[in-house]
Amino acid sequence: MSKLATLPAAHPQASYLSHQAEIDHAIQQVLQSGWYVLGQEVIAFEQEFARYIGVRDAIGVGSGTDALVLALRACGVGPGDAVLTVSHTAVATVAAIELAGARPILAEIEPETFTLDPDSLEEAIKMQGQDQIKAIIVVHLYGHPADMPAINDIARRYGIKVIEDCAQAHGAALQNLKAGALGSRLAAFSFYPTKNLGALGDGGAVAADDPELAAQVRLLRQYGWRQRYVSELPGMNSRLDELQAAILRVKLRYLDQENCRRQEIAGYYNTLLAETPLLLPQVRPGATHVYHQYVVRSRKRDQLQSFLAAHGLGAMIHYPVPVHLQPAYRGRVTLANRLAGTEAICREILSLPMYPQMTDGDVERVGGVIADFYRKK
Ligand SMILES: Cc1ncc(COP(=O)(O)O)c(C=O)c1O
Repeated sequence: MSKLATLPAAHPQASYLSHQAEIDHAIQQVLQSGWYVLGQEVIAFEQEFARYIGVRDAIGVGSGTDALVLALRACGVGPGDAVLTVSHTAVATVAAIELAGARPILAEIEPETFTLDPDSLEEAIKMQGQDQIKAIIVVHLYGHPADMPAINDIARRYGIKVIEDCAQAHGAALQNLKAGALGSRLAAFSFYPTKNLGALGDGGAVAADDPELAAQVRLLRQYGWRQRYVSELPGMNSRLDELQAAILRVKLRYLDQENCRRQEIAGYYNTLLAETPLLLPQVRPGATHVYHQYVVRSRKRDQLQSFLAAHGLGAMIHYPVPVHLQPAYRGRVTLANRLAGTEAICREILSLPMYPQMTDGDVERVGGVIADFYRKK
């Protein structure tokens, strides 16, 4: 069993400690090189990450939010355009749309997979008129791929561009194609420390299979420069630094192994919790779920969360308030429909502790406390 008296919901430090020697070595090499922003490590990481995802190119940027903004801008999205996404996501997805100058429209999710419901998407397009909706951001939430074949089909029929938000889905797949290569124009990744592939600070990447779009993103991430001090486009500063790239190169080598461990933990939770009234995570046929989060549903969610906390177990809610009900967005963003499903889900979801360094004993401890909770009721 883990030495920890308390189990956090996620454990970014553990992912450093398990590769400490290699990461320290990589850091030393960057320090000795004397080159800290957009250098050889970034170039090497971009190539290795693109190969891993199965696309032609990847562009390292400052964060997942920036990756979304840059992807939107490279797709020509700007003021006057609408972009459709879900309300049940990290606020970053919606913030990025407004940062690109566009207007968000929020649609409903499938209750089984927590990802964009293709029916709600089509309903929203018909309601809004396709002319206004320039792009769709599809979020592979919790590490589970959305129904990309259905979404791509609708988007193609209406001439709308698709961008994948893969911030929580490094290594997730559908029919053996990885998230980021599921037929979208561009895909955004975050390397925030708690992600399945996490840096030791902020970082992100845009994955691109289209060389022209990749070139656009490359220009936009640094003031529109192809040649230094010549701005071909009005760009921004969003660069991945050499230290983070060197660390990510080490951690990318362990991503599949760590995702497998997440899947094992999920399988063990499924067994331990099978007899409880909890609704357990569902997996779409043909999908590879990488369990960035292991999210259960319970009518007694708040009591269960308090009970786990009293036993030193950190379970979190991703996310307690959907974006359309957040103070910054309430009454201001357009909704595809009432989003009743999204609101119901937010009252019931709970993310159990999940990170690859958890031992089987840790998982049993969580399972045991949850079984006790339901015995007491
Ligand atoms: C679904 C989703 N999209 C976008 C982001 C933004 O990533 P970052 O925090 O690196 O800006 C995150 C991470 O928080 C996320 O979970």
